Amino acid sequence: MKLLRSWYIFKMGKSVYIYTYGCQMNVHDSEKMRGLLVQDGFEVARRPEEADLIVFNTCAIREKAEQKFYSQLGRTKFIKRRRSGVKIAVSGCVAQECGRGIFKRAPFVDFVLGPQNIPHIAKMVSGSPGSVYVDDAYDITTEELFPDRDSSLKAWVSIMYGCNNFCSYCIVPYTRGREVSRPSGSIVSEVSALKEKGYREVTLLGQNVNSYRSDTDFTGLLRRIDATGIPRIRFVTSHPRDLSDDLIAAMADLPRVCEHLHLPLQSGADRILGLMNRGYSYREYARRVELLRKTIPGIAITTDIIVGFPGETDKEHDSTVRSLQEMEFDGMFAFKYSPRKGTKASTMDGQVPDEVKSERLTELLLMQEDITRAINRRLEGTLQEVLVEGLAEADAGLMTGRTRSNKIVNFESSPEVVGSLAMIRIERTMTHSLWGSKADSE
Ligand code: 5AD
Ligand code: SF4
Repeated sequence: MKLLRSWYIFKMGKSVYIYTYGCQMNVHDSEKMRGLLVQDGFEVARRPEEADLIVFNTCAIREKAEQKFYSQLGRTKFIKRRRSGVKIAVSGCVAQECGRGIFKRAPFVDFVLGPQNIPHIAKMVSGSPGSVYVDDAYDITTEELFPDRDSSLKAWVSIMYGCNNFCSYCIVPYTRGREVSRPSGSIVSEVSALKEKGYREVTLLGQNVNSYRSDTDFTGLLRRIDATGIPRIRFVTSHPRDLSDDLIAAMADLPRVCEHLHLPLQSGADRILGLMNRGYSYREYARRVELLRKTIPGIAITTDIIVGFPGETDKEHDSTVRSLQEMEFDGMFAFKYSPRKGTKASTMDGQVPDEVKSERLTELLLMQEDITRAINRRLEGTLQEVLVEGLAEADAGLMTGRTRSNKIVNFESSPEVVGSLAMIRIERTMTHSLWGSKADSE
C-alpha cells in the first residue's frame, strides 16, 4: 500500500511539505496553504526529502527568526540538486519583506508569496518558476479557504488581517499590511461548522483583535461566537490601549470565553513605552490588569517584554523588573530588541549592546520563573477543567491537556478521554506544567 502511494505521488509529481516559522497566524496560514494545495490535488509529504514542493512559511519579527529560515533554506538546496523537478516556495513575512530579493540571495528558490496572497498559492506553483506574488492590496477577507487543520479538537480562526498600530520596533504592519476585518457572519459560520465537526475550542486570530470592526465590534463578535455553543473560546493578540471595559465585562459574562488573556506590556518604563508608540502608560496598563482581575476571578494574564529597546537605561530596565513583580504574570515571553529595517526604532539613537540585552533578558527570565512557580503553586488542591488533547510529551504514560487558563496539566488516564473536558484535581505544580488526577468527566 505504502509502495503504491509513493508510486502514485511520483506519477502525479504532487506532494508538499511546509516549514512553518513564527506566530500563530503563520501556523494557521500554513494550514490554509496546505488546504488549498490539497484541494488542488497535492498530497502531504511527511518529510521534505519526499516532497515535490517545499514551502518555507517565514517570520521576520526578529533577525534570529529570519536566520533560522535562511540556514534551513541553505540545507534544502541539496534536496533540489539530488532530485530534479523539486520546487521551492518562500511565503510569509520574509517573502513580503524581501520580494524578488529572495531570488538574489537564494537563486534556487522558485516562488515568492506574501501573506496577503495565500489564495494564489495553487495558481502560482502550477505556473512558471520565478514568479513573485507580494501584492498587499489583495482582498482575502471574505474568502473561505478551507484550511487543512493540524488538530481535530482545537482550531485557529482568522478574524482580521494586518495591523495599523505601527509600534516603532515592529515589522508586521509592513509585512501584513493594513487592518481588515472579516465579516462576522462568515466567522460565525466557520465556528458553527467546526463545532458540528466535533471541535472543542477556537482561538480567534488577529494582530490586534480588540480593534476588530465589521458589522459589529469585537465584543459583539464574541457574543455571537459564544452563542454557537463551541465549548471554549480564546483570542490573540490584545492591545492594552484598546481593551475596553465592555470587553472585560463580556469576558466575565460569556461562559465559553476562557479565563486567559495575553496582554503584551513590552516595557515598564513610560518613556520607553512612548518611544515604542504603544499608546499607554504603565499605570494605565496596571489599571486594566486590576479591572481584569477584579471582574474575572482566576484569570491568567501573560505578557510580552522587549529588553534593550534603543536608549533603554539601567533605571528603565529596573522599572520593567518592578512591573513584573507588581503584575505577577502567569507567564512571560521576553525578547532582545532586534532592529528591523524600515521601522522607526531601527534608526533611533542609543542602540543597546548585545551583552547588555542578554544580561537584562536573563534577569527577567529567572525572575519570572519564580513568579510563575509561585502562582502555579496556589493552584495545588484546586479542581480544574481540562480539555484533554492526547499523550503527554514528557511522559507517554500520562495524558495531557490545558486548563481554561491555558496551563498544561498532565494526569493519569487512558486515551478514550481525548477530546473530553475532564475535571482534574491539581496535586503538584512546576513552572511549565501542572500534575493532577482525574476527579470526574463531562
Ligand atoms: N525585536 C524584539 N522583539 C520584537 N517583538 C516584535 N518586534 C520585535 C523586535 N523588533 C516582540 C513583541 C511582540 C512579540 C510578538 O514579539 O514583544 O509582542
Ligand atoms: Fe507572525 Fe510577525 Fe513573524 Fe509575521 S513577522 S510571522 S506576523 S510574528
